[in-house]
Amino acid sequence: MTTHNPGLFIAFEGGDGAGKSTQAAELASALESRGLKVLRTREPGGTPIGEKLRSLVLDHGHGHIDAHTEALIFAASRAAHASQVIRPALERGEVVLTDRYIDSSVAYQGAGRDLGTDAVRNINEWATSGLQPDLTVLLDVDPEVGRRRRTAGDAAEDRLESEADEFHARIRTAFLALAADRPERYLVLPAHLPVEKLALRILERVEPLLALPRGVRA
Ligand code: TYD
Repeated sequence: MTTHNPGLFIAFEGGDGAGKSTQAAELASALESRGLKVLRTREPGGTPIGEKLRSLVLDHGHGHIDAHTEALIFAASRAAHASQVIRPALERGEVVLTDRYIDSSVAYQGAGRDLGTDAVRNINEWATSGLQPDLTVLLDVDPEVGRRRRTAGDAAEDRLESEADEFHARIRTAFLALAADRPERYLVLPAHLPVEKLALRILERVEPLLALPRGVRA
């Protein structure tokens, strides 16, 4: 259900090291150069409380965090993000690009942590009052390639990133299943394509959505 016209809501999803933020930045500048107002944001985070929750759940050193607590922290951060940032921007008619949204919780906590994808989806739909993206761009990355990309230059891995490749493989399968379930709402691209090629494919998919008059996307 899409309840937020006149704006356009696009989520970028994928495993760690897929290159989501690069593609979100590429799309933002392409749309801005056409005179559109674009809001780029990310999860967990996007609000002051969300940034605090981000550091609680991602930084090492907070002791053991069990899977339910982890899922609820991500959902709490998302609730604030949806109501304080995303929905108001969509109501102002802006294009909202978010780096991760509900699918990340369904894949990481539902499948990765084995909490069950339906349960995790349900708490997140409740947390966001049903706010869904018009389009989700899924950058599909091989877990091993993703790990190589994100640790290039010795960057430290956060709590989730440092999980085993097998955990990341479950997440990849879950993302692909979500996309297969509702193909009309997804654009799935192999993350290893060159940056410019990916950017072009994404823009081509987004363009017709910009042309649709208010109310038609719902
Ligand atoms: P991200 O911000 O994409 O990582 P970075 O900016 O460090 O590249 O995401 C942080 C981590 O949080 C990532 O490993 C995925 C995980 N995550 C979840 O497990 N569940 C969620 O709901 C979200 C939004 C992220």
